[in-house]
Parts: sequence; C-alpha cells; structure tokens
Amino acid sequence: MAQTITAPAVRARKGSDPLVMVTAYDAPGARIADEAGVDLILVGDSVAMVVLGYEDTLQVTVEDMAHHVGAVARAKPRPMVVADLPWMSYHLSVEETVRNSAALIRAGAQAVKLEGGAKRLPMVRAILDAEIPVMGHIGLTPQSIHALGGFKVQGKQADAAAALVDDAIALADAGCFSIVLEAVPDEVARLVTQSVDVPTIGIGAGPWCDGQVLVFHDLLGLQDKLAPKFVRRYASLKSDAVTAMAAFAEDVRTKRFPSAEESYHLSPETAEVLGLYGAAAS
Ligand code: KIV
Repeated sequence: MAQTITAPAVRARKGSDPLVMVTAYDAPGARIADEAGVDLILVGDSVAMVVLGYEDTLQVTVEDMAHHVGAVARAKPRPMVVADLPWMSYHLSVEETVRNSAALIRAGAQAVKLEGGAKRLPMVRAILDAEIPVMGHIGLTPQSIHALGGFKVQGKQADAAAALVDDAIALADAGCFSIVLEAVPDEVARLVTQSVDVPTIGIGAGPWCDGQVLVFHDLLGLQDKLAPKFVRRYASLKSDAVTAMAAFAEDVRTKRFPSAEESYHLSPETAEVLGLYGAAAS
C-alpha cells in the first residue's frame, strides 16, 4: 500500500482526530501495524529492551537502528515510519547528528525522533536544514536514565512542569512536527498540549495529548513482566505462543506430528521401483 501519511499531514492533525502510533521493529510487525490502521510506526530504541534483551536503551547503535528501520520499511507500510536516533548519535556534533539522521532516512524512515528539549535545538535545526522531519521527545527520556536516576515520572514539581512547557514550545518553534510526552502527570501533558501548535503524542501522559503511543510488545502482551501502569494489554500473545509451542512439542514427542497430510510422498511408480510396495502415493 502506498504511504499516505506524511509529516505535514501529522502536524495538521493538531486538535482533530487522535493520532495513533505504535512501535515496530521488523517487517511482520510493520504489516500488523499497517493492517491495524495506525498512523505512525516508531522504530524505537526500545528495540534494545523488548527485542535485543538489554536492560536499557543505551546499548543500540545507529547501525542497529538502521537494520530494524530497513526491516520495517521493506514491508512498505502506509503509516509514516519514524526512527529513533539512539544515544550518542546526536550528542557529539551537528555534523554527526545530520549524518546519523541521514543513515536512518536512507534505511527507510521518513523522520527521526530525538530525546531532550531546548538543549537539543542546534541538532534539531541542523536535521531540519537537511530536510528531515524531526519528532521531539520530552518528559521521561529513557536515554537519560542514569542522569534521571531511573525510569521516573517527570514534571511533578511546578518548576519542572514549567520547564517541560518551555522545552515543548522551543521544539515546536524550531520546527518539530510532533512531540512525544513520556511519563508526565496528565495535567502537565494537558498544559504542554495547549501550549504548542504541533501534536503531542503521549505515553504515560494521560488522555489530553493529541495522540497516544504504546510499545508493540506491551500492547500485544508479547512479554508478561510487570509493566508500568499506563500499559494496556490488548492481547496475551506470549501465553498464546507458549501454549501453541508446548502443543507442538507434545505432538512431536507423541509422534502425532507430522501426519501423512503434512508429509511429501513418492509416486506409486517410484515407490514400486524402490521396492516400497504399499508406500503412500503423493
Ligand atoms: O523507543 C520507544 O519505544 C519510544 C516510545 C516509548 C515513545 O521512544
């Protein structure tokens, strides 16, 4: 299906129908998101934790991200594909930031996302100068986990809330086409959403954002470890998968798999030549 959702189209959704974003990291995931009719696919650096088994998002590189962006893009999904710039890919210099953003675009993304507010403005402006749409991400920024002291709700104090509003305005004024708000009180997300003219997309940020995003594996129950309270599980695919695989193991062990219908057969003539009288025909 041709891609129809673009950065200007997302930006124009401010204040109208809520935007739906999910993460995906491979072609089957992208096809599921596409067929479900979401608006945006985020190839998030959460891939580090939900797919690659790391404890945090700091372990993935631009090469890792490009590998997953390519897999998503090859599914040719209709939703817009946004790629996370990983930690240390936009911190050292403007030049490296633009080069790394271009690598993700060449891998198949239509936009990049980076974490942080006003202090990222030089990088945001440089990426935009290269004609690459940028999505902001403020609130709980998992790449700052050590500086923040853990995965903690942000903006709970008045000065921190005001700083989030300032950061959002700075990102929107610089030209970001949307902003992810992660793990902030719903009142603060409402304030931020009212203060900017671009859509906010919330995760753990309450109902007043212009859109919502969830991580693929959380939404589908592909992992069953304790999840933050903002996660709503719409399926239990991990337990379904364990049940299915255990049934396969049982069938193999009791020789109920494969059946004659699930096997290939010689023609009766060839079976006869080989002296296999009575062998089943193909
Ligand atoms: O990497 C990711 O999955 C994200 C979402 C939580 C917004 O950045």
